[in-house]
Amino acid sequence: MYLVRKLIIFCYLINSFGANNVQEFVKYVTNEFKQIKIYQVSKNNEQLFSTCDAQFRYYGHFDFVIVGAGSAGAVLSNRLSEIKEWKILLLEAGGDLTKFSDVPAFSDYLQQTDMNWGYLTSSQKTCCQGMENNQCVYPQGKVIGGSSTLNSAIYSRGSPDDYAEWVNQGNPGWSFEEVLPYFKKSEFVALKNYDRPYHGTSGVLYVNQTSPPSVIAEAFLNANLEKGLSEVDYNGKKQLGVSRIQFNIKNNLHQNSAHAFLNPIRSTRKNFKLILNAAVNQLLINKNKVKGVTFVKDGVLYKATASKEVILSAGSINTPQLLLLSGIGPANELKKLRIPVLNNLPAVGKHLQDHPIFVNMYFRTNVTAPNHTLQDNLERYSQGMTPLTNGAGLEHLAFLNFKNETNHKAEIELITFAPPFSVPEDLKAAQNFKKRFRKIYEKYNTMTDISIIISLMKPKSEGAVTLRTNSILDFPSININYFSDLNNEDIETMYQGIKYALSLEQTAAFKKIGAHYIGEQPGCENLKSNDREYWYCALRHMTSTEYHPSSTTKMGPTPTDSVVDRNGLVYNMRNLRVVGASIVPTITRGHLFATVCMIAEKISDVIKKTHHKM
Ligand SMILES: Cc1cc2nc3c(=O)[nH]c(=O)nc-3n(C[C@H](O)[C@H](O)[C@H](O)COP(=O)(O)OP(=O)(O)OC[C@H]3O[C@@H](n4cnc5c(N)ncnc54)[C@H](O)[C@@H]3O)c2cc1C
Ligand SMILES: *[C@@H]1O[C@H](CO)[C@@H](O)[C@H](O)[C@H]1NC(C)=O
Ligand SMILES: *[C@@H]1O[C@H](CO)[C@@H](O)[C@H](O)[C@H]1NC(C)=O
Ligand SMILES: *[C@@H]1O[C@H](CO)[C@@H](O)[C@H](O)[C@H]1NC(C)=O
Ligand SMILES: *[C@@H]1O[C@H](CO)[C@@H](O)[C@H](O)[C@H]1NC(C)=O
Repeated sequence: MYLVRKLIIFCYLINSFGANNVQEFVKYVTNEFKQIKIYQVSKNNEQLFSTCDAQFRYYGHFDFVIVGAGSAGAVLSNRLSEIKEWKILLLEAGGDLTKFSDVPAFSDYLQQTDMNWGYLTSSQKTCCQGMENNQCVYPQGKVIGGSSTLNSAIYSRGSPDDYAEWVNQGNPGWSFEEVLPYFKKSEFVALKNYDRPYHGTSGVLYVNQTSPPSVIAEAFLNANLEKGLSEVDYNGKKQLGVSRIQFNIKNNLHQNSAHAFLNPIRSTRKNFKLILNAAVNQLLINKNKVKGVTFVKDGVLYKATASKEVILSAGSINTPQLLLLSGIGPANELKKLRIPVLNNLPAVGKHLQDHPIFVNMYFRTNVTAPNHTLQDNLERYSQGMTPLTNGAGLEHLAFLNFKNETNHKAEIELITFAPPFSVPEDLKAAQNFKKRFRKIYEKYNTMTDISIIISLMKPKSEGAVTLRTNSILDFPSININYFSDLNNEDIETMYQGIKYALSLEQTAAFKKIGAHYIGEQPGCENLKSNDREYWYCALRHMTSTEYHPSSTTKMGPTPTDSVVDRNGLVYNMRNLRVVGASIVPTITRGHLFATVCMIAEKISDVIKKTHHKM
């Protein structure tokens, strides 16, 4: 069995690099790292969307035109093109995957390539104070697979209570019992131990844990067990507890939505057409009925029409941007930019929710991880072994609740990095840290230190996506607004998370490897260390995003406070649907990719029922 798997992976590498595979791979990866060091992230959309054409060329007529080959767009394309008589067009602004983007541990580096749209948040008052101009980076995928290609491959569905909340907010059909079959439909579970009734065994989206575990990070698991948590399948019966991460990984490959849902159908389904590097700049609308889109590819302007539906799956930032530019959104905002108001929907771009993360919590140990060369690590990778198989270099997570251990609602998530990824060496610039903050990262040691990320699972604060100008050539403005809730409940819960993480020092597991907190919190030196004020200050400085923007075109019962109905149809429009993280009614206590795939699976069935007599 082991031999067979090894052969399969060997062939995969042979295909791409010839017989001298690992040597070639080392050269290739080294060169990618060089490019990343000098890459300048885009500051606007000029390159992508510029065209001198005043007239469009007609690209063709389809049943469905889907905008964005990200997480949702990939699932929809796969499911809708199962109906042979439907013609599906999928338009994606970005390009294709590479052998580099396939390596799970390299995902964060993709933020420094043209696979990232390159957004920064607007200048913040209540967070991001450790970043240049108080702006956090806000990566979003501009590549086939979308943000699932840039993501850390963590497979996590949140809590059953999250979906009960969706129903309570007026979205019947979305209870956990009703969505579980759609989670399972996508999934192929390759885990050794898991709660059987909760996982799918015949889908295309692989879920697995990596091995072998790192010695240092294993202390995190044991420390949490000592604290009373149990080791759980956090996508099973009980979310609260500690676990090695369940990753979207197949053998050694990052299973983004492109690998799972598009590659199997790209060249085999004649009724399905995918165009890469095709940036949609306009919806074609006639009296609230959507007829199609225009898009730019290689400087040429095209038009494609859709008889049944245009489906926007352009992510939580670009979907509201496209709607607003088309005159669908808050009338007052649109008028200010002299955009003709077609459909006054006040909630477009509003209710931006995300999980904030604290990124400056380091513990020094007296253990040193083996310092493998890149060649060693790539050889291990080719055999499906850690560390490069760990998504973004991550290894464990824990979901915690401080108030009531019997309910299932995680308030905080902790995540650890495994060496050599504990210190994001080449990402100091990517994070937009101010100089003095960058400096402290130079003191941390990636081979001896444990880094624990602390994340807020159910934020009260909301932000917004708005237009800066009436042109698609400009980035929209993204106000994340973390820790802005009036009663400071968000920052207080994060503080509880920090106290919990610090308390791990007292466990035998941490003591055994001499693990002790060594963080420094610049900007807060004048405060008494370790009290609430000090940590509030640290949190406002060194907080970044877990990259989970959602709810910017949220699903709900009324067009006054939501944008789409429970089937993703945009209010007061015909033939226009939105599917993706942007329609999440309220953010889940988990990472979003699994949830987005579930949403797209479920709405695919709705679309089939609506347009096709099954
Ligand atoms: C860095 C990062 C790490 C993450 N880590 C995790 C994780 O570990 N686990 C997890 O579950 N979730 C994670 N997430 C979140 C998860 O990946 C996203 O929530 C999910 O991919 C969103 O799906 P979507 O379909 O709504 O949008 P996306 O997947 O972002 O897809 C949108 C697509 O639309 C395209 N597009 C946009 N505008 C246009 C246009 N005008 N014309 C044509 N195409 C367009 C984009 O290029 C993109 O391909 C992470 C996200 C990021 C960015
Ligand atoms: C799942 O992970 C285990 C342990 O790392 C490995 O032995 C197995 O081959 C993996 N399965 C797949 C399909 O990747
Ligand atoms: C790991 O080894 C390389 C040389 O192979 C060296 O340049 C690097 O500094 C070492 N890293 C650490 C953290 O010791
Ligand atoms: C704890 O949660 C359970 C289950 O949700 C609930 O029944 C109970 O009342 C809660 N207890 C407290 C003290 O909040
Ligand atoms: C690490 O520190 C602990 C506690 O001081 C000690 O018991 C252990 O032997 C040390 N290990 C090494 C490798 O130095």
